[in-house]
Amino acid sequence: MKRFPSVLPDFPHIVHGGDYNPDQWLSYPGILKEDLRLMKLAGINNATVAIFAWSAIEPQEGVFKLDWLDKVIENLYKNGIYTILATPSGARPAWLDEKYPEARRVTNMGDRRLHGARHNHCMSSPIFREKVAKIDSVLAEHYKDNPAVKMWHISNEFSGECFCDICKDNFREFLRRKYHNNIDELNEQWWTAFWSHKYNNFEQIDPPSPLGENCVHGHNLDWKRFITYITCDFLDNEARTLKKIAPHIPVTTNLMGTYTGLNYWELTKHIDVVSWDSYPQFHNPDVKDSDIAVEFGMRHDITRSHKKQPFMLMESTPSCVNWTKVNKMKRPGMHYLSSMQAIGHGSDTVQYFQWRKSRGSSEKFHGAVVDHEGSENGRVFKEVAKLGADLKKLDEIVGTDTYAETAIIYDWENEWAISDFQGYSNRRNYESTVRTFYGSFFNHAANVDFVSMNEDISKYKLVVAPMIYSVSEAMINRLEKYVADGGTLICTYMSGYVNENDLCYLGGFPGGKLRKVFGIWAEEMDALHEKERVKNEYISNELGVEGSFESFDFCDVLHLEGAKALAEYRSEFYSGTPCITVNEYGKGKAYYIGTRQNAAETEKLVCRIADKAGIKRIVPDNLPEAVKVISRTDYENEYVFVTNYGTESEKIDLGCKTGTNLLDGKEYSGCVEISGYGVLILKREYN
Ligand code: GLA
Ligand code: ZN
Repeated sequence: MKRFPSVLPDFPHIVHGGDYNPDQWLSYPGILKEDLRLMKLAGINNATVAIFAWSAIEPQEGVFKLDWLDKVIENLYKNGIYTILATPSGARPAWLDEKYPEARRVTNMGDRRLHGARHNHCMSSPIFREKVAKIDSVLAEHYKDNPAVKMWHISNEFSGECFCDICKDNFREFLRRKYHNNIDELNEQWWTAFWSHKYNNFEQIDPPSPLGENCVHGHNLDWKRFITYITCDFLDNEARTLKKIAPHIPVTTNLMGTYTGLNYWELTKHIDVVSWDSYPQFHNPDVKDSDIAVEFGMRHDITRSHKKQPFMLMESTPSCVNWTKVNKMKRPGMHYLSSMQAIGHGSDTVQYFQWRKSRGSSEKFHGAVVDHEGSENGRVFKEVAKLGADLKKLDEIVGTDTYAETAIIYDWENEWAISDFQGYSNRRNYESTVRTFYGSFFNHAANVDFVSMNEDISKYKLVVAPMIYSVSEAMINRLEKYVADGGTLICTYMSGYVNENDLCYLGGFPGGKLRKVFGIWAEEMDALHEKERVKNEYISNELGVEGSFESFDFCDVLHLEGAKALAEYRSEFYSGTPCITVNEYGKGKAYYIGTRQNAAETEKLVCRIADKAGIKRIVPDNLPEAVKVISRTDYENEYVFVTNYGTESEKIDLGCKTGTNLLDGKEYSGCVEISGYGVLILKREYN
């Protein structure tokens, strides 16, 4: 039996809670009291307290008021509710911005921002860091021995960039370190001889700006790396301060899935537990709910994959959000289903933004457990309470692992490089392309892990590497070794073009040893207009995939250099040349998909490659489109989550293993029916 420690120290239950802002209600004692009654009714066992509460904690510089917070935390605790205590650095009080304007960000046009809004501080500002460290240490000293406080929630959704003089200096310092204080090395990696952009010294370098340099791709990439670095450094300043005083309390900060502004593979090295805020927009007539489940399934799996351990669903809405054009309510049952989906993917929590709708300001119409009406009689409250009751049946899931035989590469730095270069076509769509491949597993009852380009991949039976455009020589060598040692690798068009600084590989794409591994030379890549299609046909049945299909957006023109063609183009001047190939390399196999196919075609092909590679399915692979199956395990028991994103009931084949549904205690095996929005959590023997 193998379990990870619970996400909150010594808390052996699924965490059910959410953002709680008593600081907005201090002059409404009746409401604060009522919150406790309602939280108990809803089965809440945790509250994330005081995010954005700086002006309530330090209303004037150096004057700290914690009486109200003491009372809130104590009352929660008396009612069996633990506190995840936030640091308030996500938004600044007016006194701070007035006295220390350098805490406010400068835009890429050089303007200092005014006071207001949130998430807009300079990450470098020494005085802001000092003020944050001060309030953090006051909180840590005061609460370090308080048994109610289980975790620090540092700041909120780190994001954005600052272009002030201090940030510029820090950027130059970062470059000096990276390029060994050698400007020639930087000039070479950024290819600055182009357009005479050579620098004489590091002092001449500014961050990218619409007013200045913005088309040197290595420069843009290093700026993004710097933003991740300076954000982690800011986060470390907070984490260090808290840990010095209260080393036993773990820290997290809430991520935003695949937010592209920060390299989360890096940022998550600086926190103990990974958490994220998930806001799927179900019930859109233009997108199937089962596709939204794929999109958010992938984001849950990416979040879990940062530490390959259970994570926290730090925020979700029990009904609507307030920031889309149409803020649709979650239909009855959908909140339950999407919360259980998160747990299936490895979350050990279901938490909300927000517990109670604020009375005024910008988020007053955002969904919450408690409405302005204030009672437990509304639909949303009742659904949350029903979920809260059922989460109590899931203690044995806490700390369980996700076993995956497949790894998919998703890499932030690659995303930055793909989004930035000029050429071919703008229809690059890195994330949705990765998602197309992810669907080949999630829609077919197989778990996956995500990996960065710096991770060990040797334990996986299958590695899927869609659009690895920017890939270091070190990673290429790891991929080569992986295949040589017997692994199966799938790669696509637009792979192996540039190194980690966006310098093209010389000697043909895919670059370095990849050309040998795949046994092909991708001489050219054609880009198609939006509605253009190219015809293709499978010419080998070795995978059991036959017939013709269409492809779009990108078509590699390939030469076989040892690989075997599985499919060929049937239109265009390159008709008759290969578009999908396989190469036996060492003990392994390398598949190259040289053209973009839709999800159905991709799944048809990738599922057969997965079968060949011996990838196990949790249940037989013939699920209806609306039904998804994922699992967790402690290596003695397997917990199979069967979820139906459709409104109609569906028949599925669970295979011969019998499992007991933790939710209703009944046994299930073979062909069963699952109701619309239904969830089964089947406990079966692991083998
Ligand atoms: C984010 C923030 C919250 C809140 C929600 C609204 O996730 O972290 O403070 O603004 O969005 O959806
Ligand atoms: Zn700055």
